[in-house]
Amino acid sequence: MQERILITGAGGQLGSVLTLKLQENFGIDNVIATDIHLDSTFSGHFEILDATDYKGLEDIVLKYSITQIYHMAAILSANGEKNPLNTWDINMKTFFNVLEVSRLHNINKVFYPSSIAVYGENAPKINTPQDYFLAPATVYGVSKAAGENWANYYYKKYGLDVRSLRYPGVIGYQSLPGGGTTDYAVDIFHKAIKKEHFECFLNPTTTLPMIYMDDAIRATIEIMEAPIESIVIRTSYNLASMSFSPEELVASIRKIYPEFQISYNSDYRQGIADSWPKSIDDKEAVTDWNWKPKYDIQAMTEDMIRNLKEKYTYENLNI
Ligand code: SER
Repeated sequence: MQERILITGAGGQLGSVLTLKLQENFGIDNVIATDIHLDSTFSGHFEILDATDYKGLEDIVLKYSITQIYHMAAILSANGEKNPLNTWDINMKTFFNVLEVSRLHNINKVFYPSSIAVYGENAPKINTPQDYFLAPATVYGVSKAAGENWANYYYKKYGLDVRSLRYPGVIGYQSLPGGGTTDYAVDIFHKAIKKEHFECFLNPTTTLPMIYMDDAIRATIEIMEAPIESIVIRTSYNLASMSFSPEELVASIRKIYPEFQISYNSDYRQGIADSWPKSIDDKEAVTDWNWKPKYDIQAMTEDMIRNLKEKYTYENLNI
């Protein structure tokens, strides 16, 4: 059967890169990207969709005979704190719409991104285990923890094949994050390339779990392609790659740009970061569907800098 894929949040940090990968894997005609705004550089099928609108979502599912949905639209941790009830409404309403449209129109697989933000201050900071109880500190984390349980509920009750990963902070040259607590780890590279000073909103020693975009996309494709019997966890899988603090990232960048300068001025995002794990135990992902990251901090730094330099040179910026 020819799969036809719908992506919500296709203009986002992960969604935009995932869309290209899915176009490559399934053919450009079989991928329908949606978001609330059209990116003028996009090529392929695109529909404007506010995923809180059930009817709008259903119309697109029927129009294109969609068989799989990747639900990447969400408000992230830091932005989410500005209007908590609105964040809850948007993150939950969009996911309920995806679950319901999938149940009613025989969608065969759904991808739901969760996050390290589901863990709270109570959880062990080092190698946080999959099954430790979830007491998130942000409304974003609360919505993702609830969403994971709804994913499990739809699987158990209706047999809907929802698969999910708890992403660490995602770092890539292709796109910019929007409103997360781990955004500094992308922004810092743009400053380094432009030889500008960077002011970091987290303290120098704040260690967080992170993953390079290539690994994050590969994990997404791998969990979605794994045989159904290997997907044992129906809430969401812990996913680990690397962990580092701002000062460790600076040390890695200075191997290439020794002059790079940073100062620290923490804000409310420090409190969010302090409530999250420092590293993640992902042995279930390793055992169940053979997860293995490729990039460590230095390999990531080198790849980021090489690609961003190309990008800025292409855009004729003097670097
Ligand atoms: N990277 C995300 C954020 O910072 C966590 O899922 O909000």
